[in-house]
Amino acid sequence: MQEETHLIDMRQIHKRFVMGDTVVEALKGVSLSVDEGEFLGILGPSGSGKSTLMNVIGCMDTFQEGSYRLMGIPMETLEDDKLTIVRNRLIGFIFQRYHLIGKYTVLQNVMMPLLSRGMRYEEAAKIAAQKLSMLDMGKRLDHKPNELSGGQQQRAAIARALVGNPKLLLADEPTGALDTKTGKDVLKLFQELNAMGHTIVMITHDLSVAESAKRVVRIIDGELYAEEETN
Ligand SMILES: Nc1ncnc2c1ncn2[C@@H]1O[C@H](COP(=O)(O)OP(=O)(O)OP(=O)(O)O)[C@@H](O)[C@H]1O
Ligand SMILES: [Mg+2]
Repeated sequence: MQEETHLIDMRQIHKRFVMGDTVVEALKGVSLSVDEGEFLGILGPSGSGKSTLMNVIGCMDTFQEGSYRLMGIPMETLEDDKLTIVRNRLIGFIFQRYHLIGKYTVLQNVMMPLLSRGMRYEEAAKIAAQKLSMLDMGKRLDHKPNELSGGQQQRAAIARALVGNPKLLLADEPTGALDTKTGKDVLKLFQELNAMGHTIVMITHDLSVAESAKRVVRIIDGELYAEEETN
């Protein structure tokens, strides 16, 4: 019998930071599997290891022990240039402070993942404009990020994350810089994207934010705990 392939399959991941004589065990044997179509919330207090875990899931950082397969591909043995390809092709990142590039227009920002794959400018512009229109940003294509509200900047960042059709949307405190109402709108958008089939992993310290996800796991002091179905 063939074993089912999870989108994310982490087993007993250990991540240590060594600073002089002190060793910080940021992840203490974390195991996690996420299947396509899930909307998972990872909930934990400050210092619990959320960003460390996000960096490992997002192939932005290495780990000392354990195994991590993304779509069945073992990450621990990939070279840096291959990891860059994995990041660009498989994962769309969404950050608390949007991380849009200030000197570029909204359209150009959203085109970036396509251009870095070698797509022609005109084609990338067309696809990026479609994605922005889908997210109600069609009238803001030529604006610079500082000419947008926080909610609009986050929608532009979500368009950028989606534009290359990644397998996974990875969000770190995506509502952390937004007011309550705008934050709720972003979470509703995530639920809609998930209903359309997008797999989402969202990291937060806020229970009311995590509850928008379909499943929640808790991280406390580098360890992952009991999973709850929320809705
Ligand atoms: N580069 C690093 N060097 C040394 N220690 C680190 C490093 N990054 C994180 N740590 C330590 O690892 C632990 C987990 O940190 P992490 O940033 O993952 O927490 P977090 O849950 O994201 O917290 P926050 O909610 O405040 O962002 C902390 O004790 C932190 O001090
Ligand atoms: Mg953090």
